[in-house]
Amino acid sequence: MKHKIKLVIIFAAFVFGGLAVSFSSQRAQTRTTQVETAGQRFKNIKVLNDMPADQLGKVMNIFSASLGVNCDFCHYGEDFEKDGKKEKETARDMIKMTMSLNKDHFRGRPEVSCNTCHHGLDHPQAQVNLSPEPIAERPKQPETKPTVDQIIDKYIAALGGAQKLAKITSREIKSVRVEPDGRTTEPENKWFKEGKYFSETMYGTTAVTEGFDGTKGWKAGNKAAIYMKPDEAEQVRREGELSAPEKIKQIYPKMEYRALDRIDGHEVYVVFATAASGTRERLFFDVATGFLVRRSTATPTMFGNYTYQVDYLDYKLFGGVKLPATVKYSMPNIRWTSKVVSLKNNPQIDDKRFESIAAGH
Ligand code: HEC
Ligand code: HEC
Repeated sequence: MKHKIKLVIIFAAFVFGGLAVSFSSQRAQTRTTQVETAGQRFKNIKVLNDMPADQLGKVMNIFSASLGVNCDFCHYGEDFEKDGKKEKETARDMIKMTMSLNKDHFRGRPEVSCNTCHHGLDHPQAQVNLSPEPIAERPKQPETKPTVDQIIDKYIAALGGAQKLAKITSREIKSVRVEPDGRTTEPENKWFKEGKYFSETMYGTTAVTEGFDGTKGWKAGNKAAIYMKPDEAEQVRREGELSAPEKIKQIYPKMEYRALDRIDGHEVYVVFATAASGTRERLFFDVATGFLVRRSTATPTMFGNYTYQVDYLDYKLFGGVKLPATVKYSMPNIRWTSKVVSLKNNPQIDDKRFESIAAGH
């Protein structure tokens, strides 16, 4: 994917609006008490008027991924409020149809979404597939279920043990971000320290940064900075927290074994985990190696769940402990793989690094 398309999607995040970093806390408070609708926040909304404004960004990415298209299939460049493309008008009809199907046939639950029909195609196929791929069956479930303690103990041991892990309080990772085309790459640096997180990715000469300062998640680029929406901030927080995997039981005070499943042919234990904040996630541990290989969470929208998935792959020894050398991030319409180039445990990191850029202004 070209830097330009990627940047449109990234900077659209600023259009969709989190709380601008400079907003007064008073404004932030009024926002939490009454939910702002898309009709109130955006300029030219004709059908999604009552949808919470914070869902619009996710929903636009769900539309794009469902049809297998970019934003410009329905929009003129970054003039998102402009009308005139027939695809945007068709999409408005489709939104109305989808909402009425759910209202009239599924008691208002978002059972039908764009992807239910489109499956990644702009023109859905009505005819039946005559040579379907067989659907992989779930592996036979174990007679005695493993306990969460067994799964976690094996994971921590596989990484090198709690003692070794606890000695690491900061980390610096130099990596490359590989785009879905497999060819486009961007240099990326990440810093972790006591639950705080900061990353910087270079798209050509444009730096896009993301961070969690211990309480708030923020992102910045193109001289603009915003605080993330709560669910996004929660995910950046988790990246920071999980750099200390020996604390996994504190990160997720509630964990429950669910089932034995498979990812890419490997058997995995599926664990339902609830973070301290109440966010529910699924953790997948490789049965053979013990490693955490996937983590996923879903945020509901009017057009189905917006899934956020992280795959931790290719565990290697870095200074006495094993860590994933490849991390794959997947969301509707947004995917990249981060490959470690070099990793330093316990570097000196100034706390200032984790502050939002607004703090320095
Ligand atoms: C399949 C068509 C389609 C795709 C693809 C699509 N959009 Fe939209 N978008 C719409 C429609 C339709 C509206 C107006 C909804 C309404 O009128 O209620 C809209 C509205 C918007 C708005 C609100 C503009 C305003 O101020 O009124 C933004 C911002 C936006 N889209 C961004 C994006 C971005 C970014 C992408 C790519 C990630 C994208 N859209 C992909 C159909 C689409
Ligand atoms: C019940 C099935 C169904 C659902 C649900 C559905 N669509 Fe469609 N959509 C279709 C079909 C069928 C066509 C092709 C119609 C035609 O060619 O006349 C289509 C066509 C379109 C087109 C025109 C594509 C083109 O090539 O011009 C757009 C845009 C679109 N859909 C967007 C959406 C969006 C956005 C959603 C979710 C809000 C959605 N659709 C939900 C069945 C569906």
